[in-house]
Amino acid sequence: MKLTICLTLLGVGALSLLNTARAEGPPQTLPDGPEKPLLVAMCSGCHPAEAVLGHQNPPKYWDKEIEHMIDRGAKGKPEDFEKIAAYLKRNFAYVPGTVNLPDGPGKAELIEVCSKCHNPDIVVTRDGQEGLRTQWASTIERMIRKGAKGTDKQYDLIEDYLTANFDFIPVPSYLPEGPGKKVLEKECGGCHGVALFLGRHESRDAWGRTIENMIGRGARVTPADMELMADYLTKFYGPDNLIR
Ligand code: HEC
Ligand code: HEC
Ligand code: HEC
Repeated sequence: MKLTICLTLLGVGALSLLNTARAEGPPQTLPDGPEKPLLVAMCSGCHPAEAVLGHQNPPKYWDKEIEHMIDRGAKGKPEDFEKIAAYLKRNFAYVPGTVNLPDGPGKAELIEVCSKCHNPDIVVTRDGQEGLRTQWASTIERMIRKGAKGTDKQYDLIEDYLTANFDFIPVPSYLPEGPGKKVLEKECGGCHGVALFLGRHESRDAWGRTIENMIGRGARVTPADMELMADYLTKFYGPDNLIR
């Protein structure tokens, strides 16, 4: 059973290698299409609709991403969400062999260890999650259980490479600009987005305790980032400010 899936994936990968010369990669701007106005109307507001750029996903992950946006508060008729899904699946599909894997330490190891069963550029799908370090670690664990063969050193390099190149794509958010914004979007946005901060008025100590609580839940925060985040949160979401 496992072998069959593996061979099927291999087949797809080999076929697409033949097509590589024709591959153009994902679009850099929103392509035209009958559903584009719906996307722009329903998927802007919290972030520009351009947040979809840079993503290449299999159909099931686009459905999942839209569900995720509905959980975040996106509003609309079910049939309109279906049209948006069709647009995204058509224009931002993952096609093996079309992804330009960025150069960097760990790339060679990724190609060596992860090409055995499928095209290694499958990592652009981020396995259907934000692609944060902890999530990459669990994808790698899953691949080891499926039979991936590598050394601990190779897996460490692959994890670093994936985290550096295929982590959460921070969408421009509505949080006020300031030092610490990017790191908050990246380190805190992956689990629950950043809408959680809106309307809060807490002291620096209270923000520090919240960050520690989140570290307990799995947030990866360096001491320097912790200072930066606490400063940012106290400045914009502290007891004295009026930002909602
Ligand atoms: C022994 C075979 C094998 C090796 C080696 C392997 N994989 Fe996989 N991988 C699979 C199979 C089978 C699937 C599809 C089933 C699944 O998602 O569980 C898959 C799926 C994936 C997916 C999710 C694709 C999707 O869209 O669902 C990602 C991401 C992935 N692999 C990454 C990796 C990485 C990174 C490595 C190297 C560390 C690797 N794989 C090595 C067998 C393998
Ligand atoms: C690994 C996942 C994860 C990460 C990363 C994460 N959180 Fe959370 N966060 C949670 C979960 C789960 C809850 C719900 C906890 C509960 O039920 O009280 C939560 C709740 C919250 C809440 C509301 C509850 C409260 O304690 O007031 C705030 C505010 C919050 N997180 C801030 C942050 C900040 C700031 C960061 C970045 C330092 C962060 N989170 C990173 C998982 C995470
Ligand atoms: C109510 C607010 C809201 C609306 C409306 C909304 N989003 Fe989002 N979206 C978010 C937030 C918050 C994030 C930040 C990351 C997260 O929470 O997953 C995000 C992130 C994203 C990302 C990037 C995720 C990543 O890993 O890089 C994509 C893609 C996306 N949204 C697509 C859409 C689409 C498609 C729609 C319309 C169907 C939509 N969004 C509508 C709140 C929204």
